[in-house]
Amino acid sequence: MRKNIFLLLSALLIASLFPLGAPAQTAAEFRDHTDIPKQWPQQPVRSAHGMVATDDPLASQAGVEILKRGGNAVDAAVATAFALAVVEPAAGNIGGGGFMLVRLANGKSTFFDYREMAPAKAGRDMYIMPDGKLDPEASTIGYRSVAVPGTVAGLTLALKTYGKLKLADVLQPAIRYAEQGIPVTDKLVREFDEERSGLQRYSMSNHIFLNDGKYFHAGDTLRQPELAATLKRIAKNGPADFYQGEIAQMLAKDMAALGGLITLDDLAHYQPKVRDVLHADFKIDDHRWEVISSPPPSSGGVAVIEALNMLQNVPIKGWDDPQSVHMVLEVMRRIFADRAAYLADPDFSNVPVAGLTDPCYAKELLATIDLTRASSSKEIHAGNPHVCSQGISASAKANTIVSLGEGPHTTHFSVVDSAGNAVASTFTLNDSYGSHVTSSAGFLLNDEMDDFTTQPGVPNALFGLIQSEANTIGPGKRPLSSMTPTIVVRDGQLSFVTGSPGGPTIISVTLLSVINWMRLGMDAQAAINAPRFHHQWLPDEAWIEILFSPQMEDQLKSRGYPVKRRGHLGLINAIGIDSKTGERCGAADPRDNGSAIGY
Ligand code: DON
Repeated sequence: MRKNIFLLLSALLIASLFPLGAPAQTAAEFRDHTDIPKQWPQQPVRSAHGMVATDDPLASQAGVEILKRGGNAVDAAVATAFALAVVEPAAGNIGGGGFMLVRLANGKSTFFDYREMAPAKAGRDMYIMPDGKLDPEASTIGYRSVAVPGTVAGLTLALKTYGKLKLADVLQPAIRYAEQGIPVTDKLVREFDEERSGLQRYSMSNHIFLNDGKYFHAGDTLRQPELAATLKRIAKNGPADFYQGEIAQMLAKDMAALGGLITLDDLAHYQPKVRDVLHADFKIDDHRWEVISSPPPSSGGVAVIEALNMLQNVPIKGWDDPQSVHMVLEVMRRIFADRAAYLADPDFSNVPVAGLTDPCYAKELLATIDLTRASSSKEIHAGNPHVCSQGISASAKANTIVSLGEGPHTTHFSVVDSAGNAVASTFTLNDSYGSHVTSSAGFLLNDEMDDFTTQPGVPNALFGLIQSEANTIGPGKRPLSSMTPTIVVRDGQLSFVTGSPGGPTIISVTLLSVINWMRLGMDAQAAINAPRFHHQWLPDEAWIEILFSPQMEDQLKSRGYPVKRRGHLGLINAIGIDSKTGERCGAADPRDNGSAIGY
């Protein structure tokens, strides 16, 4: 116990020494943007049949093209994901990993986990230098930061399980974009510029994204012939080419030549997993609501359900009401304290999911909130999750808290088809442009190794989320994630599809979007436009978007919160179903020019 307190105090000290904002590069949705468009859409895009909402119009078009060709939501989602790997290189990927939550029109839900895995040669101390210090770059940039990619295995498994079309068909839009090229947008120019110092270190990245040092200008065409060739090989030979065939050979050769750890064996052993979804039921205003969300190795579903349970009987009036913001901030503080202590890869440790998502445990946590004053995170620590019916003895032991860390850039998209099948999917390279390494097969590689606890007792290189001993590096292990694709069902009918990028803020902003829809009755676009805030226990700060009034900031400060303004938090591309008309209402996030397209 005493040792735990000592470690907790050390973690607090470390957190105060390494405030957020320290990372060398930060994803678009995490930066303080001054260029948020003034005119935000006030209405969702409505359509009778299908809808695709993504970060990029070309990706949304790819999904709609597949829906119109008779594909279902899973066909469209797989096409959209491959298209994002071409048109949104910062986050869309085949060299990373992610999660796909599917709810079929018949009510069956499935979670596809294609999170990356640590290679066999990875070890707990692999980023620690001979002097005992953490190598600040090794887990975030270059070959050694790369975990075994899962995207191709996961997308093809989802397609095989539920799709109607062939892999070659759903790959067509992505192949076309890579081969014929896409217009270089202002956003791409800005990103290439921001990531230049990392990209120019690696010859393929310099060649493809920096135009061999001649750089791109808005309106140029970005062609990716190497990626097109790789996508064509996948279309022809299936995922086996990526994990055992020619693509695997190319990747393993790059790794061997340039100091990476991934071998042919690691690729051959990669396994996507089908996991049980998390469910929670709520009764609000005579309606039965069900929230379906992401299980570990995501921490998000547990956290969102724990929060909704705590808030179940708490009045929430809206985000211009300081009392409502206060209560949700305090709930966030507590779910993040639990995340830090208990969440990790469930294949390697025992995560007390049942206790953490038990409504009666939520009641006990709620009782620790002061209704008028901010708590201090120094005094709030992980709870004692347990299933009430089994008594306190069923509770889990908190892991020792030893490290900080979470990485930046990711993309979320949502799809609903005409039959009512729905997909919420979030996938990532971790950092913007991942490890910044592009393989000789033309695709960027993740730096997901930094989502592990990279050095017990020392903060990870990216921004500060406390994580546990259970999340330390081990061969074949999946690093803990915050990605939270989530689907909401009302009276047995599909109602809302949501999720976001944003590292730890994913959890907070996905939660807020669900509250906006389910508790506050906002329409889909209002639920996405509404101002967002975040608290992650440590550092002990309330982050609020610039959209909040100065009065709200004053109110929160007077309750005792250290307040930090953020440009914006998260990028949610959601779809709501109009319960009266059945229309699909696409709401892309105006914080970064998302795009909802229906038909
Ligand atoms: O899986 C995770 O939680 C992180 N790799 C996600 C990183 C992220 O969302 C960065 N975006 N800002």
